[in-house]
Amino acid sequence: MTHAPLLAATHRIGVFDSGVGGLTVLAALRRRQPDAELLYAADSAYAPYGERDAAYVRDRSERVTRFLLAQGAQMIVVACNTATALAIAPLRRLWPHTPFVGIEPAIKPALAAAVPGAPPVAVLATPGTLASAKFRALIDAHDPTGRLLLQPCPGLAEAIETRGPHDARTSALVHRLCAPLRAAGCTTVVLGCTHYPLAALEIRAALGATGAAAVLLDPAQAVAEQTARLASRLPAADNASLATLRAWSNGPPALLQRIAHACELGPLDIQALPADAPPRAVIA
Ligand code: DGL
Repeated sequence: MTHAPLLAATHRIGVFDSGVGGLTVLAALRRRQPDAELLYAADSAYAPYGERDAAYVRDRSERVTRFLLAQGAQMIVVACNTATALAIAPLRRLWPHTPFVGIEPAIKPALAAAVPGAPPVAVLATPGTLASAKFRALIDAHDPTGRLLLQPCPGLAEAIETRGPHDARTSALVHRLCAPLRAAGCTTVVLGCTHYPLAALEIRAALGATGAAAVLLDPAQAVAEQTARLASRLPAADNASLATLRAWSNGPPALLQRIAHACELGPLDIQALPADAPPRAVIA
């Protein structure tokens, strides 16, 4: 029997999301940089971010980033569209010497591939992402003529987070949210929340006849490429740790473990993300 060699980590990269969704990005990071030490924080007790105000998302993003930096992260991947839209600019201002990589809906490639006269390209995202100034700027730059079908998905990240992507109630919610896409015959769907690729099967089913062949766009691979590019400019991580993956969560670890398995990340070493201020009220 052969064993994979234990690699000394080149870089130590912190990654966070409101919960399990960021594992879809973490899997791409792991594939792209097998020699990096990855630190993942799932802020599940404070999820969903997508239906809270900007101050809440900024506060949580700042606390989780501070935690990851205290663990020795040299750079931060914001594996959450909502936190990228609402909090990455203040994070960059707070830590001007730390590289940050964010994620945003893959609108540009989706529209570049769109065929004139075809059904609209759909964007599924949290209400917070769709209402953000950053998303509005993306739309103004790439879709001034309004070719996109924008579908907010209240409750979907939370359903995936609490019940899992394949639960019957999650599927029913996906079916209801995708009704406008089904009616329009959409064949290209931008997944604008890192939780949604976990429900890809349910989304395809909800699209109806066009679902099986539909193109679902998830920018995780592009995020992994950009992360590798920025990481290559960093010095080697200190205290020569191994190229492992460590995770912290303030929610129940069972679903995180199940999703990690589904994302081929293997069993995770999950520790408790230290508790701090109680979550603020949901505003939407
Ligand atoms: N996974 C996150 C995103 O990409 C946030 C989901 C949520 O907490 O609402 O937007």
